[in-house]
Amino acid sequence: MKKSSTSYGDAGFSQFIKRAFSRHLGHRVEDFEKPTIGICNTFSEINRCHSHIKPMIEAIKRGVIMEGGIPLEFPTISVGEMFTSPTTMLYRNLVAMDTEEMISAQPIDGTVLIGGCDKMLPAQLMGASSADKPAIAYTGGPMNNGEYKGQTLGACSDCRHFWQEYKAGTVDEEELDKINERLAPTAGHCMVMGSASTIAACTEALGMMLPGGACVPATANERMRQAEETGRVIVQLVKNDIRPSQIMTKEAFENAIRVLMAVGGSTNAVVHLIAIAGRLGIELTLSEFDQLSKTTPFIANMRPAGAYQMQDLAYAGGIPAVMKELSPLLHMDEKTVTGKTHKENLENVEIEKEYRHIVKPLDEPLYKDGGIAVLQGNLAPNGAIIKPKAAINKALLSHKGRAIVFTSIEDMEKRINDQDLDVTPDSVLVLQNAGPVGAPGMPEAGMIPIPEKLLKKGIRDMVRISDCRMSGTAFGTVVLHVAPEAAIGGPIGLIQEGDWIELDVNNRKLDLLISEEELMERKQNWNPPVFTNYQRGYPYLYRQHVLQADKGCDFDFLCKVPQHQAAPKELVLESEKV
Ligand code: FES
Repeated sequence: MKKSSTSYGDAGFSQFIKRAFSRHLGHRVEDFEKPTIGICNTFSEINRCHSHIKPMIEAIKRGVIMEGGIPLEFPTISVGEMFTSPTTMLYRNLVAMDTEEMISAQPIDGTVLIGGCDKMLPAQLMGASSADKPAIAYTGGPMNNGEYKGQTLGACSDCRHFWQEYKAGTVDEEELDKINERLAPTAGHCMVMGSASTIAACTEALGMMLPGGACVPATANERMRQAEETGRVIVQLVKNDIRPSQIMTKEAFENAIRVLMAVGGSTNAVVHLIAIAGRLGIELTLSEFDQLSKTTPFIANMRPAGAYQMQDLAYAGGIPAVMKELSPLLHMDEKTVTGKTHKENLENVEIEKEYRHIVKPLDEPLYKDGGIAVLQGNLAPNGAIIKPKAAINKALLSHKGRAIVFTSIEDMEKRINDQDLDVTPDSVLVLQNAGPVGAPGMPEAGMIPIPEKLLKKGIRDMVRISDCRMSGTAFGTVVLHVAPEAAIGGPIGLIQEGDWIELDVNNRKLDLLISEEELMERKQNWNPPVFTNYQRGYPYLYRQHVLQADKGCDFDFLCKVPQHQAAPKELVLESEKV
C-alpha cells in the first residue's frame, strides 16, 4: 500500500493514514510487501455470461496466495449482450475507461481480467494496455452445447435460424418455445464462434491468456484449474515485470488476426483488435486484415460458418491445436503470459486423428482462405467487411441489385414486412444511420431480416449493407462496418431507393453504380442528421469522440497516438442548433 501515491499534503501523515487503512482491509501490513494482485471482478446477475464467476475468483485468489501474492478483488462495470440497450458496443469504451482507471489508480502490481460476454474482454484489454501494468486475461468460459431432437443447438446462431424459420412458417410457436428453452442451457458465454468465443481465441493468440483458456466450457473442472493457474501466473508476471506492451506486439496482433481468420471468427474482432492495438500505438489497417485473410486457411470447423461449437473444439485441443496447425504461418517466438513463447507452449500439443473433422490439416482446410474479406469502392471509401463463408447463398457474393433503403433501424423495423415493400430476392437491402455516431454505438442490426413475404417463398439470403455490425453468431450475405458511416456524410447515406449497387467479393469491390458527378451533387446537398436522443451524459460524450469502424471505434482521446474523429464539424446536435 506504500505504492499508493494518494497524498494528504504531508508525506509522513499520508503513510501513517494509509498504514491504518491497510490494516482496515484486514491484512497484516507486511503482507503488502508481496505482489499485490487486483482481480477485476465483472460479476453481474444481469450479465448471465458473468454471473457464475464467483467460484472462479476464489480459485484465482488461491493461485495468487500459493504463489506468494496478495489478491484484492475489485469491481468494474459489466455489460451483457442481451439486456444492455441500445447496445453493449456503446459501453465498451466505458468499460475500458473504468478498467484502465482502476488499474492505474489503485496500488496494485498486476491484474487478472475476467472477461466473457462479447465486449468485456476487448474493453479490458484496451484498458489494461493503456494502464500497462502486468495483466492476464481469463474468461468465465463458453456454455455447453444445447440439444433439441438430437440436433446440437448453439446460442445464438440457432436463435436466429429458428426465428427465421418461424417467420417463414416452417416451425410453429409451440416448437419454437421448446427450442427456446434449450438455446442457452448452462452458465457461460455463447458457445458458437461468435464474438465472445472469437475474442477469447484471439486473446490466446495474442499471448495474454493461458494456452487452452478460450475453449474450456464454463462448467468444466478444467476451467477451475485454469483459474488457479491464472492466479499463479499473474504473480510471476509481476515478479518478472512483464507488461501487456511487451506481449502484445505487432507480430502478436498478426498471430491474433490469423487465428481469427482460421476459426472463421466474428467480424466484431476486427474492430476490437484495431482498438486494442491503438491503445499500444500499433496501427492495424483493414488491408492488413484482408492480406492475412487471403493467406490463412480456414481450418477450424466452427459455427456459424462450420459445424461445431466451443465444447467440441475444447475436446479437439482448443486454440492450442489450431495454433499448432497454423504454426508455419505464425510468429511462434512471440512471448506469452506464461513467460514462454508460443513455440515452447505448444511443443507437446498433438491433434488426435479422431478430431480432425474439427481442426483440419493446414493442407486440407475447410476453405483455402480466411473467414473475413475487406471490401472497398465508392460506397465504402474507408472499407467495409463481409464474412463470405457465412453467406447462405454463395451466388450473392457477386451480385448487382437495386437498393431498398431504410434510413434508420426504426424505419427498417416499421417497413421490412410491409406487404407493399417493392422488394425482390435480387434487391439489396440498405440500412443507413446505424453506425458508431448514428445509432449511436453501431448496434448488431446488420443482419437485416429477410422480408416475411420472401421468407415464405423460400428465400433465406439477400445482399444486405449497413454501417452497423452484426453478431458473430449471425450469418448471410451481409456487408458491415461501411465507413465512413451515413451519419457523418459517408456515401452509404447518399444511396437512394432504386439505385444499382454492385457487390463483388472476389475482387473486394462494393460500388454504388452512379456517376461521380451525381455522387458529388448528392454529397453537396446532404444535410447532417439532427440528433434528438442522447443529449447528455456518457452517450453524448461517445458521439463527440467515437472513431469510425476502420479505426476501431475507440475514443479519439484514448488512443495512444491521438486521433481525430472523422468529421466532427458535420455533427449538429440538437443542443447546438442555432
Ligand atoms: Fe454474452 Fe452471447 S450473451 S456472449
